[in-house]
Amino acid sequence: MKTVLIAGGTGLVGKTLSTLLNQKGYKVYKLTRKAKKRGHIYWNPILQTIEGRNMDKINIIINLVGENIGEKKWTDDRKKALLDSRVDTTKYLFKLRNNFPNLEYYVGASGINCYDSNNNGIPNVETDDYGTDFLAQLVKSWEKESNSFNQYYPTAVLRIASVMDYRGGVLSKMKTPVWFGIGSPLGSGNQLMPWIHIHDLCEMITHCIEHKLIGTYNAVAACDANQEVMKTLAKNMNRPFFMPKVPAKIFQWLYGEMSILILGSTNASNDKIRSTGFTFQYPTINEAIKDLLSN
Ligand SMILES: NC(=O)c1ccc[n+]([C@@H]2O[C@H](COP(=O)([O-])OP(=O)(O)OC[C@H]3O[C@@H](n4cnc5c(N)ncnc54)[C@H](OP(=O)(O)O)[C@@H]3O)[C@@H](O)[C@H]2O)c1
Repeated sequence: MKTVLIAGGTGLVGKTLSTLLNQKGYKVYKLTRKAKKRGHIYWNPILQTIEGRNMDKINIIINLVGENIGEKKWTDDRKKALLDSRVDTTKYLFKLRNNFPNLEYYVGASGINCYDSNNNGIPNVETDDYGTDFLAQLVKSWEKESNSFNQYYPTAVLRIASVMDYRGGVLSKMKTPVWFGIGSPLGSGNQLMPWIHIHDLCEMITHCIEHKLIGTYNAVAACDANQEVMKTLAKNMNRPFFMPKVPAKIFQWLYGEMSILILGSTNASNDKIRSTGFTFQYPTINEAIKDLLSN
């Protein structure tokens, strides 16, 4: 069976992905800046150092590295950290490629927020232009580095939507106000929120590996109006949903440019990945939320 190195494997996606890959019989190593543990390969991408052990075993690299986009307000320094932690680390991994003599496939993470804001009913497809805002331009630079692997190895890049997981990410942020009975649509509530269940994302990554898919794919189950997502969450948590909309201005004041994560509208198609034979186990927001709340 193949051996996989997950860069950023200690994060939200990496944890579930490594469990799934282990279950499917892969040997998994995590590339991390954290203290060494069994199964970890230590690196420091800023100092450009990496621990040399086990690199000859690696057949597949999955790169999930990046400072968390929604964690801190986007000051100039933070924007630089968000960009550098993706672009410079991917560049460094590419520079290291000859240290992986048995590498045969590469998967790079990317973001679905790469298109211009879209609420016009026509979903964006992978060949559409990048948008002009900070996130879209970050994705453009990030994907350019990921695609440099494609000169040497088959490479897939997944434009990941908001990952729905019970242990963290967007769902836990939305759950708190709903739990207190003050869940409500955010902003107009009509903006489309792209999402994917963690299980489907991890299955999609293994589907790419198993079919050696090449190219860029939108990793999105659906794009639902924010008010629909909040209402579905409240219904499944048996909480009321009657509060007025939270005005967009409040988010703009609290989060500045980062408020686009809440107020921006993304409508992206998943036709391309489905045309490769991939099927979603959680295609609707109701099924995804129901499953995650049962954990
Ligand atoms: N979760 C989502 O909703 C979502 C949506 C769209 C795209 N994505 C993308 O998918 C990838 C995985 O997401 P995730 O939610 O699993 O991310 P996460 O939980 O924030 O984990 C990312 C990992 O990247 C590593 N990392 C962070 N900053 C770094 C830096 N400056 N230099 C080197 N390594 C750094 C960390 O590993 P160590 O500390 O162990 O080194 C961390 O565990 C990310 O690239 C993210 O942007 C996620």
